[in-house]
Amino acid sequence: MSFNPDLCRNESEVESKLIVSYLLPKLGYGIEHWHQEVTLGSIRLDFLSFAAQELPFRLDGDSPLALVMEAKHPRQNLDRHLRKLKRYLTSMNVKYGLLTNAKEIRIYQREENEIELIFKCWGSQVDEKIEEIKALIGRDYLGQNRNSQTTKIMNEEVNENTVESTSETRKSGKEENENQAIAPQSETRKIVSNTPKNQRILVNPEIDSNQINQSRRNPMKVIAVYHNKGGVGKTTTVVNLAAALSKRGYRVLVIDLDSQANTTFATGLIKFNDEQFDDIKDSYIYHVLRYDEHSSIPEVARVSRFNDPEVHVIPSHISLMQAETEFNNLRSSLTSLIKKLKPVEGKYDVVLIDTPPSFNLYAFIPLVSANYLIIPSDLKPFANQGLSNVKNYLHEEINRFRQVMNKPDIEILGVLPCKINPNSRFVQYTLPKQIQTVSQRYELNVMETVIFQREELAKCIDKTRQVGELEIPEPSSIFDYAPDSSSCQEFESLANEVLNKIGLK
Ligand SMILES: Nc1ncnc2c1ncn2[C@@H]1O[C@H](COP(=O)(O)OP(=O)(O)OP(=O)(O)O)[C@@H](O)[C@H]1O
Ligand SMILES: [Mg+2]
Repeated sequence: MSFNPDLCRNESEVESKLIVSYLLPKLGYGIEHWHQEVTLGSIRLDFLSFAAQELPFRLDGDSPLALVMEAKHPRQNLDRHLRKLKRYLTSMNVKYGLLTNAKEIRIYQREENEIELIFKCWGSQVDEKIEEIKALIGRDYLGQNRNSQTTKIMNEEVNENTVESTSETRKSGKEENENQAIAPQSETRKIVSNTPKNQRILVNPEIDSNQINQSRRNPMKVIAVYHNKGGVGKTTTVVNLAAALSKRGYRVLVIDLDSQANTTFATGLIKFNDEQFDDIKDSYIYHVLRYDEHSSIPEVARVSRFNDPEVHVIPSHISLMQAETEFNNLRSSLTSLIKKLKPVEGKYDVVLIDTPPSFNLYAFIPLVSANYLIIPSDLKPFANQGLSNVKNYLHEEINRFRQVMNKPDIEILGVLPCKINPNSRFVQYTLPKQIQTVSQRYELNVMETVIFQREELAKCIDKTRQVGELEIPEPSSIFDYAPDSSSCQEFESLANEVLNKIGLK
């Protein structure tokens, strides 16, 4: 099998086409020898491979850790990632690091606290160079516990200065985000391959939630997305609005407060096919709400890569449903999210909260915590009738509670028309009447943006990736799935409208 770097158009394709499908098997690493998206303290590794298999895995000086592999977008200049690779290798005592953007492949070796380039070639040369690469970082070779004497193989054909450099600077800086402490979850693995559950990576994480950047440009804006009618597009709105804002450089946190956990799935955090590999249930929104003294947002948030740039997500879990009675007897849970959001006010620009289609506690908590509310609706009769309930609920319960807390009423950004039939006659004749009904009968402002019913919006959530024999869910934001689609334009327009209304533009 040969490799063609031109087929890698984004970071995820560099991971899947070059690393998972080509390099790992060629270098002798079976699916039991590597882990993807491993989070250790503030470090998030794309791939971590082991020369030998050992039960249980311990991450310390004696671990059979072999190699860290980092994949970057094909347009990224690899030089920009050296500092981070050095930090990974030195802090985790890993000897070798492979860094690639598919166009270029580099291998670094750690010597004490420094890293040294020991090999590089173009991606287009990888077929002919694979034996050389194998001799350096192949599993057979690393498994022999060789000493630190390494033959330096420098490929003269690659001239540093000719490497394309088109890295762009984001508004808030991806580098900065990546270096910030995210979530030392007690023992965390983001992807579970088919390794047995007792193979846990035990870490002594460099916990540093104080690293959070407190330099704020604007006060953090918290937006709840809510309607008591189900299936109207709340989750789709949260996920793709988060992606749109993140693409513009805003630092976005998504919180899933629905025990259906659809946002958790749609942001790619549910990678397991078998519930025995469930790595969510030990650290999710329940823990944030339940515990005062620990489970802060940086501890529980996960880096989600359903979109590039990444978005941080506090996941939900089906067990949240059972916890409702416990929370109902625990008055502090009503204000727990408000308290937990305070320390991260400098870390995020926008927080988007997905809610369940109900009037339960998990709707109450976000609505008392948020500054703004978006009400997605398909504008059909049941959804409209539900609007009266929403208004009453806001008036009778939410805003009353907010007044007691000296918080202003929640500001409704509007009813967002979602899943609207794109048929031109419908758009011309029926839609304007529906919009008029909502604004006149229910006295609610209707947002200018319309999110039409489109196949690609439903499809991007169902994307999967084949890893060996496993089919792993790999949902994607609409921006990464169908960048030229009409849905993208609609979510761009929504981002504009929201940013204008919340004063971030
Ligand atoms: N604009 C759209 N075009 C096509 N399909 C859509 C669109 N919006 C949502 N869907 C699909 O409709 C279904 C319901 O959408 P979604 O999950 O976003 O609604 P929800 O309000 O969050 O539902 P729930 O109340 O159950 O949480 C999903 O299968 C989703 O993929
Ligand atoms: Mg939902």
